[in-house]
Amino acid sequence: MLVILKRDNQEVNEQAAQLIAGAIRKNPSLTLGLATGSTMVGLYRHLVRLHQAGSLDFSQAATFNLDEYLGLPASHPQSFNHFMHENFFRHINIQPRNIHIPDGSVRRDYDAYCASYEQSIRAAGGIDLQILGIGRNGHIGFNEPTSSLASRTRLKVLSRETIDDNAKFFGPREESPRCAITMGIGTILEARKILLLATGPPKAAAVAKSIEGPITCAVSASALQLHPDVTFLLDEPAAAQLTQREYYQRVLEMTALLTPDRLS
Ligand code: F6R
Repeated sequence: MLVILKRDNQEVNEQAAQLIAGAIRKNPSLTLGLATGSTMVGLYRHLVRLHQAGSLDFSQAATFNLDEYLGLPASHPQSFNHFMHENFFRHINIQPRNIHIPDGSVRRDYDAYCASYEQSIRAAGGIDLQILGIGRNGHIGFNEPTSSLASRTRLKVLSRETIDDNAKFFGPREESPRCAITMGIGTILEARKILLLATGPPKAAAVAKSIEGPITCAVSASALQLHPDVTFLLDEPAAAQLTQREYYQRVLEMTALLTPDRLS
């Protein structure tokens, strides 16, 4: 596990964009796993800027989003589908057929639908680089606390904390969704490489538990300790409760010296 500490949100976004851009330049037909949420807005802005400057080509890349609210059609302004198109896809040259986002409008046969999403990930050759945010409760995707660490794409009931966190995005008279379709923790752990971004003080406790705490279904992101190639990219406030910061810094310096490929 690599822990990269940056001063602020801006530096986290810049570094994440550089890492993703490097991966796409190395492998133009990269399959990316993508997340939504406020943490990702700045990252997508940076990637769009690189594309518009002519230095990043998405024409052969494919994407799979982690999750979508159940009951929201793609056209709903709060759907993750809408978020992805507004913040990212409509500004880059990705082929529409290479974009995959769970369909929040499915009404029955949820298991079959979720199995088909898993099947399309497999058919694409698996996810090369999975980008993650983290919830205040340690969720990744919408894998709420007590999710099975072996879970696959499925229907998930959202926790009260997540519903409250997301309520700000919905109108006063609108009820925010209670359920979502999300890739499972097992699905996420199959990605070849994982990059988790966390910024701001509200994430500090979840970040510390995920990196330094025990592996537990109470903190879904702690399952990332089982993955051989995970990078946590954190700003100062999100890293505030880590106890081994000096060690992470030395690991980073040695990695840059001995295996610089891991950082590009
Ligand atoms: C969204 C997702 C979630 C978010 C997490 C953090 O696709 O997978 O796990 O990454 O809830 O959200 P923000 O960035 O809004 O704090």
